Amino acid sequence: MKIYYNKKDLNSYVEGLKINKKTIGFVPTMGALHLGHASLIEKGLKQNDFVVVSVFVNPTQFDSKEDLIKYPRTLDNDVKLLSSISKNKIVAYAPSVEDIYGNHVKSTSFSYDGLEHEMEGRFRSGHFDGVGTIVKRLFEIVRPDKAYFGEKDFQQLMIIKKLVEKHHIPVKVVGCKIHRATDGLAMSSRNSRLKPEYRKVAPFIFKTLKTAKEKFDGNSANKVTEWIENQFAKHDLLELEYFIIADIDTLRTVKRKSNKKTYRAFIAVYADDIRLIDNIALN
Ligand code: PAJ
Repeated sequence: MKIYYNKKDLNSYVEGLKINKKTIGFVPTMGALHLGHASLIEKGLKQNDFVVVSVFVNPTQFDSKEDLIKYPRTLDNDVKLLSSISKNKIVAYAPSVEDIYGNHVKSTSFSYDGLEHEMEGRFRSGHFDGVGTIVKRLFEIVRPDKAYFGEKDFQQLMIIKKLVEKHHIPVKVVGCKIHRATDGLAMSSRNSRLKPEYRKVAPFIFKTLKTAKEKFDGNSANKVTEWIENQFAKHDLLELEYFIIADIDTLRTVKRKSNKKTYRAFIAVYADDIRLIDNIALN
Protein backbone atom coordinates (compact mmCIF):
# COMPACT_ATOMS: atom_id res chain seq x y z
CA MET A 1 0.00 0.00 0.00
CA LYS A 2 1.26 3.46 -0.87
CA ILE A 3 1.81 6.08 1.81
CA TYR A 4 2.50 9.71 0.91
CA TYR A 5 4.11 11.92 3.51
CA ASN A 6 3.83 15.24 1.71
CA LYS A 7 1.36 17.07 -0.51
CA LYS A 8 3.74 17.30 -3.46
CA ASP A 9 3.95 13.51 -3.83
CA LEU A 10 0.25 13.07 -3.17
CA ASN A 11 -0.52 15.73 -5.78
CA SER A 12 1.33 13.87 -8.53
CA TYR A 13 -0.52 10.67 -7.60
CA VAL A 14 -3.90 12.47 -7.67
CA GLU A 15 -3.00 14.12 -10.98
CA GLY A 16 -2.41 10.65 -12.49
CA LEU A 17 -5.84 9.46 -11.32
CA LYS A 18 -7.53 12.58 -12.72
CA ILE A 19 -5.85 12.15 -16.11
CA ASN A 20 -7.11 8.58 -16.22
CA LYS A 21 -10.65 9.72 -15.24
CA LYS A 22 -10.61 7.68 -12.02
CA THR A 23 -12.93 8.72 -9.21
CA ILE A 24 -11.50 9.51 -5.79
CA GLY A 25 -13.19 8.89 -2.44
CA PHE A 26 -11.67 10.60 0.58
CA VAL A 27 -11.79 9.67 4.26
CA PRO A 28 -10.11 12.26 6.50
CA THR A 29 -9.03 10.84 9.88
CA MET A 30 -6.77 11.56 12.80
CA GLY A 31 -5.54 7.98 12.80
CA ALA A 32 -5.68 5.36 15.56
CA LEU A 33 -7.93 3.70 13.05
CA HIS A 34 -10.68 1.34 14.13
CA LEU A 35 -13.67 -0.41 12.56
CA GLY A 36 -15.66 2.83 12.56
CA HIS A 37 -13.11 4.38 10.19
CA ALA A 38 -13.02 1.11 8.23
CA SER A 39 -16.78 1.32 7.62
CA LEU A 40 -16.32 4.75 5.98
CA ILE A 41 -13.43 3.46 3.85
CA GLU A 42 -15.43 0.45 2.71
CA LYS A 43 -18.31 2.69 1.66
CA GLY A 44 -15.79 4.85 -0.20
CA LEU A 45 -14.38 1.83 -2.02
CA LYS A 46 -17.86 0.80 -3.18
CA GLN A 47 -18.56 4.24 -4.65
CA ASN A 48 -15.15 5.21 -6.12
CA ASP A 49 -12.21 3.75 -8.03
CA PHE A 50 -9.70 4.74 -5.31
CA VAL A 51 -9.84 5.95 -1.72
CA VAL A 52 -7.41 8.36 -0.09
CA VAL A 53 -7.27 8.13 3.71
CA SER A 54 -5.55 11.01 5.48
CA VAL A 55 -4.00 10.35 8.87
CA PHE A 56 -3.25 13.64 10.56
CA VAL A 57 -3.73 14.72 14.16
CA ASN A 58 -4.81 18.27 13.48
CA PRO A 59 -3.40 20.57 16.19
CA THR A 60 -5.74 23.51 15.48
CA GLN A 61 -8.92 21.64 16.43
CA PHE A 62 -7.80 20.76 19.97
CA ASP A 63 -8.84 23.18 22.70
CA SER A 64 -6.65 21.38 25.23
CA LYS A 65 -2.91 20.96 24.79
CA GLU A 66 -2.96 17.88 26.98
CA ASP A 67 -5.64 16.22 24.83
CA LEU A 68 -3.53 16.91 21.72
CA ILE A 69 -0.40 15.43 23.31
CA LYS A 70 -2.25 12.36 24.59
CA TYR A 71 -4.10 11.71 21.34
CA PRO A 72 -3.07 8.17 20.19
CA ARG A 73 -0.65 8.02 17.25
CA THR A 74 -0.36 4.53 15.76
CA LEU A 75 0.63 4.92 12.09
CA ASP A 76 2.14 1.42 11.75
CA ASN A 77 -1.06 -0.23 12.96
CA ASP A 78 -3.14 2.14 10.86
CA VAL A 79 -1.28 1.07 7.74
CA LYS A 80 -1.80 -2.60 8.67
CA LEU A 81 -5.54 -2.05 9.00
CA LEU A 82 -5.70 -0.16 5.69
CA SER A 83 -3.69 -2.88 3.89
CA SER A 84 -6.04 -5.54 5.23
CA ILE A 85 -8.95 -3.70 3.57
CA SER A 86 -7.22 -3.19 0.20
CA LYS A 87 -3.60 -3.01 -0.89
CA ASN A 88 -4.08 -1.36 -4.26
CA LYS A 89 -7.24 0.76 -4.01
CA ILE A 90 -6.34 2.69 -0.86
CA VAL A 91 -3.55 5.18 -0.41
CA ALA A 92 -2.65 6.88 2.85
CA TYR A 93 -1.65 10.50 3.21
CA ALA A 94 0.19 11.05 6.49
CA PRO A 95 1.60 14.59 6.33
CA SER A 96 3.64 16.44 8.92
CA VAL A 97 2.25 19.54 10.63
CA GLU A 98 4.64 21.59 8.50
CA ASP A 99 3.42 20.07 5.23
CA ILE A 100 -0.10 21.25 6.08
CA TYR A 101 0.49 24.49 7.97
CA GLY A 102 4.00 25.64 7.07
CA ASN A 103 5.15 27.87 9.93
CA HIS A 104 1.65 29.15 10.75
CA VAL A 105 -0.16 26.59 12.86
CA LYS A 106 -3.31 28.70 13.03
CA SER A 107 -6.91 28.20 12.02
CA THR A 108 -9.04 30.43 9.84
CA SER A 109 -12.32 31.64 11.24
CA PHE A 110 -15.49 30.22 9.66
CA SER A 111 -19.18 30.93 9.90
CA TYR A 112 -21.47 27.95 9.49
CA ASP A 113 -24.73 29.87 9.93
CA GLY A 114 -24.82 29.27 13.67
CA LEU A 115 -24.21 25.51 13.65
CA GLU A 116 -20.81 26.20 15.22
CA HIS A 117 -22.28 27.80 18.34
CA GLU A 118 -24.06 24.68 19.57
CA MET A 119 -22.83 21.67 21.56
CA GLU A 120 -19.23 20.80 20.63
CA GLY A 121 -18.73 24.40 19.47
CA ARG A 122 -19.92 25.67 22.85
CA PHE A 123 -17.88 23.24 24.91
CA ARG A 124 -14.71 23.15 22.77
CA SER A 125 -13.72 26.68 21.91
CA GLY A 126 -12.29 27.14 18.40
CA HIS A 127 -12.84 23.48 17.56
CA PHE A 128 -14.85 23.95 14.37
CA ASP A 129 -12.55 26.66 13.04
CA GLY A 130 -9.78 24.07 13.31
CA VAL A 131 -11.91 21.38 11.66
CA GLY A 132 -12.97 23.73 8.83
CA THR A 133 -9.38 24.84 8.25
CA ILE A 134 -7.97 21.33 7.97
CA VAL A 135 -10.84 19.81 5.97
CA LYS A 136 -10.87 22.68 3.45
CA ARG A 137 -7.09 22.38 3.06
CA LEU A 138 -7.28 18.60 2.67
CA PHE A 139 -10.05 18.94 0.06
CA GLU A 140 -7.77 21.29 -1.91
CA ILE A 141 -4.89 18.82 -1.73
CA VAL A 142 -6.81 15.56 -2.36
CA ARG A 143 -9.45 16.97 -4.77
CA PRO A 144 -11.87 14.08 -4.12
CA ASP A 145 -15.18 13.43 -5.87
CA LYS A 146 -16.78 12.24 -2.64
CA ALA A 147 -15.77 12.60 1.01
CA TYR A 148 -17.00 10.40 3.87
CA PHE A 149 -17.84 11.56 7.38
CA GLY A 150 -19.35 9.62 10.27
CA GLU A 151 -22.61 10.44 12.04
CA LYS A 152 -20.62 9.69 15.21
CA ASP A 153 -19.61 13.36 14.88
CA PHE A 154 -23.00 14.47 13.60
CA GLN A 155 -22.39 18.17 14.18
CA GLN A 156 -19.08 17.95 12.31
CA LEU A 157 -20.86 16.23 9.38
CA MET A 158 -23.45 19.06 9.23
CA ILE A 159 -20.70 21.68 9.46
CA ILE A 160 -18.70 20.11 6.62
CA LYS A 161 -21.84 20.06 4.44
CA LYS A 162 -22.28 23.76 5.22
CA LEU A 163 -18.59 24.48 4.50
CA VAL A 164 -18.83 22.81 1.08
CA GLU A 165 -22.05 24.66 0.25
CA LYS A 166 -20.81 28.10 1.34
CA HIS A 167 -17.40 27.82 -0.32
CA HIS A 168 -18.69 26.10 -3.48
CA ILE A 169 -16.26 23.21 -3.02
CA PRO A 170 -16.89 20.56 -5.70
CA VAL A 171 -17.09 17.57 -3.32
CA LYS A 172 -20.08 15.42 -2.44
CA VAL A 173 -20.20 14.89 1.32
CA VAL A 174 -21.51 11.44 2.28
CA GLY A 175 -22.72 10.74 5.84
CA CYS A 176 -22.10 7.27 7.32
CA LYS A 177 -23.85 5.41 10.17
CA ILE A 178 -22.27 5.09 13.62
CA HIS A 179 -20.27 1.89 14.02
CA ARG A 180 -20.53 0.37 17.51
CA ALA A 181 -18.77 -2.28 19.55
CA THR A 182 -20.98 -5.31 20.31
CA ASP A 183 -21.82 -3.83 23.73
CA GLY A 184 -23.10 -0.64 22.06
CA LEU A 185 -20.23 1.75 22.77
CA ALA A 186 -19.62 3.95 19.71
CA MET A 187 -16.16 3.18 18.37
CA SER A 188 -13.66 5.96 18.89
CA SER A 189 -9.89 6.36 18.82
CA ARG A 190 -10.18 7.60 22.40
CA ASN A 191 -11.65 4.26 23.60
CA SER A 192 -8.17 2.72 23.51
CA ARG A 193 -7.17 5.07 26.33
CA LEU A 194 -10.02 4.02 28.67
CA LYS A 195 -8.93 2.20 31.83
CA PRO A 196 -10.65 -1.22 32.11
CA GLU A 197 -13.15 -0.14 34.78
CA TYR A 198 -14.22 2.84 32.63
CA ARG A 199 -14.37 0.78 29.42
CA LYS A 200 -16.66 -1.63 31.29
CA VAL A 201 -19.23 1.03 32.22
CA ALA A 202 -18.98 3.13 29.02
CA PRO A 203 -21.84 1.25 27.20
CA PHE A 204 -24.12 2.96 29.75
CA ILE A 205 -23.92 6.00 27.44
CA PHE A 206 -25.62 4.31 24.50
CA LYS A 207 -28.00 2.42 26.81
CA THR A 208 -29.34 5.71 28.21
CA LEU A 209 -29.55 7.18 24.69
CA LYS A 210 -31.76 4.25 23.62
CA THR A 211 -34.02 4.76 26.64
CA ALA A 212 -34.14 8.49 25.83
CA LYS A 213 -35.38 7.58 22.38
CA GLU A 214 -38.16 5.40 23.86
CA LYS A 215 -39.11 8.13 26.33
CA PHE A 216 -39.09 10.88 23.67
CA ASP A 217 -42.24 9.34 22.25
CA GLY A 218 -44.78 10.65 24.78
CA ASN A 219 -42.63 12.94 26.91
CA SER A 220 -41.37 16.48 26.48
CA ALA A 221 -37.71 17.07 25.56
CA ASN A 222 -37.25 18.67 28.99
CA LYS A 223 -38.60 15.61 30.79
CA VAL A 224 -36.29 13.30 28.85
CA THR A 225 -33.31 15.58 29.50
CA GLU A 226 -34.09 15.66 33.24
CA TRP A 227 -34.33 11.88 33.30
CA ILE A 228 -30.93 11.46 31.63
CA GLU A 229 -29.30 14.03 33.91
CA ASN A 230 -30.61 12.07 36.91
CA GLN A 231 -29.25 8.80 35.58
CA PHE A 232 -25.77 10.29 35.30
CA ALA A 233 -26.00 12.11 38.64
CA LYS A 234 -26.41 8.66 40.21
CA HIS A 235 -23.50 7.15 38.26
CA ASP A 236 -20.23 6.65 40.14
CA LEU A 237 -17.77 6.79 37.23
CA LEU A 238 -19.31 8.66 34.30
CA GLU A 239 -19.71 12.40 34.41
CA LEU A 240 -22.21 14.05 32.08
CA GLU A 241 -21.01 17.18 30.28
CA TYR A 242 -24.16 17.73 28.26
CA PHE A 243 -27.26 15.96 27.02
CA ILE A 244 -29.16 17.92 24.42
CA ILE A 245 -32.13 17.17 22.21
CA ALA A 246 -31.77 19.25 19.05
CA ASP A 247 -33.44 19.94 15.74
CA ILE A 248 -31.13 18.32 13.15
CA ASP A 249 -31.32 21.26 10.73
CA THR A 250 -30.29 24.02 13.14
CA LEU A 251 -28.76 21.89 15.93
CA ARG A 252 -30.54 24.21 18.36
CA THR A 253 -31.92 22.72 21.57
CA VAL A 254 -35.60 21.93 21.15
CA LYS A 255 -37.99 23.98 23.29
CA ARG A 256 -41.30 22.59 22.07
CA LYS A 257 -41.58 19.49 19.90
CA SER A 258 -43.13 19.72 16.46
CA ASN A 259 -44.06 16.66 14.44
CA LYS A 260 -42.79 18.39 11.31
CA LYS A 261 -39.22 18.38 12.60
CA THR A 262 -36.53 15.75 12.99
CA TYR A 263 -34.69 15.48 16.27
CA ARG A 264 -31.56 13.86 17.57
CA ALA A 265 -30.19 13.48 21.07
CA PHE A 266 -26.53 14.39 21.62
CA ILE A 267 -24.38 13.50 24.59
CA ALA A 268 -20.86 14.22 25.86
CA VAL A 269 -19.56 12.32 28.87
CA TYR A 270 -16.29 12.21 30.79
CA ALA A 271 -14.99 8.75 31.67
CA ASP A 272 -12.12 9.74 33.92
CA ASP A 273 -10.25 12.34 31.81
CA ILE A 274 -11.48 10.92 28.51
CA ARG A 275 -14.27 12.69 26.74
CA LEU A 276 -16.72 10.49 24.83
CA ILE A 277 -19.51 11.67 22.53
CA ASP A 278 -22.46 9.86 20.98
CA ASN A 279 -25.86 10.61 19.47
CA ILE A 280 -29.07 8.94 18.38
CA ALA A 281 -31.93 9.73 15.98
CA LEU A 282 -35.16 10.21 17.94
CA ASN A 283 -37.93 10.35 15.33
P1 PAJ B 1 -11.55 11.10 13.54
O1 PAJ B 1 -12.06 11.27 14.92
O2 PAJ B 1 -10.35 10.25 13.31
O3 PAJ B 1 -12.72 10.56 12.66
C1 PAJ B 1 -12.57 10.44 11.27
C2 PAJ B 1 -13.94 10.12 10.68
O4 PAJ B 1 -14.39 8.85 11.17
C3 PAJ B 1 -15.00 11.16 11.09
O5 PAJ B 1 -15.82 11.45 9.97
C4 PAJ B 1 -15.75 10.43 12.19
O6 PAJ B 1 -17.10 10.86 12.33
C5 PAJ B 1 -15.69 9.01 11.68
N1 PAJ B 1 -15.92 8.04 12.77
C6 PAJ B 1 -15.21 7.95 13.92
N2 PAJ B 1 -15.75 6.98 14.70
C7 PAJ B 1 -16.81 6.48 14.03
C8 PAJ B 1 -17.76 5.46 14.31
N3 PAJ B 1 -17.76 4.78 15.46
N4 PAJ B 1 -18.71 5.20 13.38
C9 PAJ B 1 -18.74 5.91 12.20
N5 PAJ B 1 -17.87 6.88 11.88
C10 PAJ B 1 -16.91 7.16 12.78
O7 PAJ B 1 -13.28 13.46 12.93
C11 PAJ B 1 -12.07 13.59 12.81
O8 PAJ B 1 -11.16 12.55 12.93
C12 PAJ B 1 -11.41 14.94 12.50
O9 PAJ B 1 -12.19 15.95 13.05
C13 PAJ B 1 -11.19 15.18 10.98
C14 PAJ B 1 -12.50 15.22 10.21
C15 PAJ B 1 -10.26 14.11 10.41
C16 PAJ B 1 -10.50 16.55 10.81
O10 PAJ B 1 -9.29 16.60 11.47
